[in-house]
Amino acid sequence: MTFPALDARVPSPATAGHGPAVGPRSPGTRDPLGLLDLFGDGFVRDPYPWLDALRSESPVHYDPVTGLWLVSRYHDARRVLLDPDLFRPDNAQHAVSPLPVAALRVLARVGFTLPPALANNGTPSHPGLRRVVTRFFNAQRVEAAVPVIERIADELLDPVRVRIATTGGCDLFTSFAQVLPCRVLMELLGIQGVDPATLIRWSDASLELFWGRPALERQLELAELVGEFHQWLTATVRSGTAASSSFIGALARHRLPNGKALDVETAVGACFFVFIAGQSTTGQLIATVLRRALAESGLWPRAAREAGLAEAWVEEVLRREPPVTTWRRVAVRPTELGGVRLPEGAQLLLMLLGSGSDPAVFPDPEQMCPRRANVRQHLAFGVGRHRCPGASLARMEAAVALRAVARRLPGVRLTAKGAPSPMLGLLSFRAPLHVAVEAISRTAAS
Ligand code: HEM
Repeated sequence: MTFPALDARVPSPATAGHGPAVGPRSPGTRDPLGLLDLFGDGFVRDPYPWLDALRSESPVHYDPVTGLWLVSRYHDARRVLLDPDLFRPDNAQHAVSPLPVAALRVLARVGFTLPPALANNGTPSHPGLRRVVTRFFNAQRVEAAVPVIERIADELLDPVRVRIATTGGCDLFTSFAQVLPCRVLMELLGIQGVDPATLIRWSDASLELFWGRPALERQLELAELVGEFHQWLTATVRSGTAASSSFIGALARHRLPNGKALDVETAVGACFFVFIAGQSTTGQLIATVLRRALAESGLWPRAAREAGLAEAWVEEVLRREPPVTTWRRVAVRPTELGGVRLPEGAQLLLMLLGSGSDPAVFPDPEQMCPRRANVRQHLAFGVGRHRCPGASLARMEAAVALRAVARRLPGVRLTAKGAPSPMLGLLSFRAPLHVAVEAISRTAAS
C-alpha cells in the first residue's frame, strides 16, 4: 500500500469532472487517485468511476486531504460495521473540516457538546438509548404512520398541482421531498414549538458544518444556526414540558444502566442526531427516487399503479445512489483490512455508496433492476449494532411519496431545457438539490 501524494497538477478535463482515467498504466504514470477530491465537483457529480477505481486499485486507500482511510469494497465495509469492538463509532459526528476558533466560540457560548448518545456511542449506554428510538419506529408504528404520510403528501401536493397548472413547472425538492419527512417526523415524535422550515434550516446547517467543507465565513454563519438549534433543544429538554408520549418525554423517563436519569447534554445530543437523521436523509432519498424515476423511460405511470414497484424502486435507489454515501469508524488497535495494515486510531470512511455498486455482490451494478434478487443486501442503512433504526420509516416514506407524486402528477417530466441539478455534496450526504419538473402538455403546446 502506498500513500498517493496529492497531485499538484491542474486536473485535465479528462480527469476533472469525469472521474479518473484509470486504465493500463505505463511506467511513470502518476496515480490518478492522487487527484481524488471527495468534495470536488467531479466526484460529487459522478462518483462512480472514482469508486470503481478505488475498489479495484486501492480498496483500503489513505486520503491525505481528509486523513481518512477509504474502504470501498462491500465485504470490507460490512466487516468493519459488524465488528464494533475493533472499529468503534466514536468519530461518527466529528467535524471533517476543522472548525476555526471563532466558530468554536459561537458553539461554546451555547454550551454545545455532542456526548456519546446514538451513532457516536460505543459505550454500555448505547443499547438502552437505541431502544428509546426503535420504540418510535418499529414495524407497527411505521405501518400505523402510512395514513399520516399519505395525508401530509396530499396536503403538500395540492399547492404543487396549482403551481404547475398556473406556471407550468415546480421544484419538487423544496416544495415536497424536503418538507414531507420533516412534517412526518414532527408528528411521530411529538416535536412542538418550532416550524418545519426552521427545523429544516437548522438540520441542513448542521450537516454542512460537520460534514462539509465550507469557507470560513460560511462556517461562522452555520455555527450560529447550529448554536440556535442546540439552544432551542436544551431549553425544550430542560423545561420538562414535552408531552410524555413525545420523544423528549421518553428520554426524560429513560434510565441508564446505572439507574440514573439522562443528563441534559446527552438527551440533547440524542435529539440533535434523531431530529436531523430522521428527516434530512429521507428528504434526500425522496429527491433521488423522484429524479431517477422521472428519468427512467416508462417508469412514472407504472410507479403509480403497479403493486410493489414503488417499494422495489426505492430499494434499488438505496443500493445504487443512497443519500448517506459514507459513514465513519475508528480502529481501536492496529489491524489489517483488505490486505492493508491500519494503525491504531485509523479513521475509516466506509464508502457505502460504492459498496452498493460492488460487482462482486451486485452484478451489472450500473443497471437499475428493481427486481434484482439481492436488492435488500445493500449497506445504505449500515448493518449490525448501529444499523439505522429509521430504515423502515425511510423506506415507507419514500415509497408512499413516489406513488403519491406519480398518481397526482401523471403529466410531468423533468424540465427539458434545465441544466443538471446542482448536488448536495458533503462527506456523507449526496442528493440533487432540485427536482425541477414541467407539465408535458403545456410544453408540447408552446
Ligand atoms: C434514507 C434515509 C436514511 C438513511 C440512508 C440512513 C442511514 C443511516 C446510516 C448509514 C446509519 C449508520 C449505521 C451504522 O453505523 O451502522 C444510520 C444510523 C442512524 N439513523 Fe438513519 N438513515 C436514514 C433515515 C433515518 C430516519 C428516518 C431515522 C429516524 C427516524 C434515522 C435515525 C438513525 C439513528 C438514530 C441512527 C443511529 C443508530 C445507532 O447508532 O444505534 N435514520 N442511519
